[in-house]
Amino acid sequence: MNKNSTKPLNLFEYEKLAVEYLSQMALDYYASGAWDEVTLRDNRAAFERYKLRPRMLVDVSKRNLTTHILGQPILMPLLIAPMAFQCLACPEGEIATARAARSSGVGMVLSTLSTKSIEEVASSCDRVAAALQHRSHAPALQWFQLYIHKDRGLTRALVERAYTAGYKALCLTVDAPVLGRRERDRHNEFVLPPGLQLANLVDISGLNIPYQAGESGLFTYFAQQLDPAVTWKDLEWLQSLSPLPLVLKGILRGDDAVHAVEYGAKAIVVSNHGGRQLDGAIASLDALVEVVKAVDGRAEILVDGGIRRGTDILKALALGAKAVLVGRPILWGLAVAGEAGVAHVIDFLRDELDVAMALSGCASLEDVDSTVTSDQ
Ligand code: FNR
Ligand code: LAC
Repeated sequence: MNKNSTKPLNLFEYEKLAVEYLSQMALDYYASGAWDEVTLRDNRAAFERYKLRPRMLVDVSKRNLTTHILGQPILMPLLIAPMAFQCLACPEGEIATARAARSSGVGMVLSTLSTKSIEEVASSCDRVAAALQHRSHAPALQWFQLYIHKDRGLTRALVERAYTAGYKALCLTVDAPVLGRRERDRHNEFVLPPGLQLANLVDISGLNIPYQAGESGLFTYFAQQLDPAVTWKDLEWLQSLSPLPLVLKGILRGDDAVHAVEYGAKAIVVSNHGGRQLDGAIASLDALVEVVKAVDGRAEILVDGGIRRGTDILKALALGAKAVLVGRPILWGLAVAGEAGVAHVIDFLRDELDVAMALSGCASLEDVDSTVTSDQ
């Protein structure tokens, strides 16, 4: 950590600090949202619109933040969201993130577009796992996030590799038939710097982020390689490729959530991709209530977008989420201090959630019911 910087006390301060550690191109890629970034801002504003309704005189001397997601235990209701290109933040990239997730007892979703491979990330946690063996610690909860490529053989191979490597679920991102327009990336003509590559796709020639004048190379990659024709019917094919439970990420409507359940999804991530896809889309917290109601307990509901404080996690849980995913703050931690920085960011959220629960009269996550929050 930079000696001249004040020690960060929260995720916003980590973000300010991270600016000093990232190239302009990486910072813009990580931070930006689509078009006018209205949805990016609204994800945060939505959390501020909801208020907490604390209950008093409850014994909160012992607090329990643990839960299960799709049957797997985690030490707090948090997963690290799938995010591409983590080696832009530090040389160990996704490996550092996975190790921090493992030692902190939270989940991690690995992006298809990672800069460390499916296998490297899975095995990187062995050392941490051995160190934790003597403690009663949750096993790794790692999911693989999938982008369906036009090349279905390639897509099949990704799923098979994730299953073989031990990932516990397949998280299909459904909100990106094309990439959202991020104008900062267009100005920068975003491309991976020399030495970085799409680590899961190295065997296939030409499958790297292309340079294109006046354009984000990632936008071009999506247009060339990803399949914008995917529909609900493809979910049957996808589920035939492995026994992994299917999670759909990017749902923002109750009717789509019902479809997801009917087509076999075991969990849904209510998400607008951190405001990076359709600008003007509803804030994910605002969509959560409708999705929870429509699904009515038939799948586990998670939410992401704008979660920066323990109180945000509490509000999301009160509105019916089983857990939350956190995106950008993990990258700020990674940029500032690698694995330790990610663990530090998770620690802040754990501590804040713990204190917020105590102050709300909640000793365990079961106590976080819908009366704990309201929008007025
Ligand atoms: C993402 N996100 C994302 N989602 C996904 O399904 N696959 C991916 O490869 C990526 N890549 C990615 C890169 C970067 C730099 C960011 C910031 C985000 C979206 C991510 O999973 C998540 O939905 C949002 O980041 C959540 O919002 P917050 O927590 O960043 O506000
Ligand atoms: C992004 C893609 C990779 O948001 O999901 O940048």
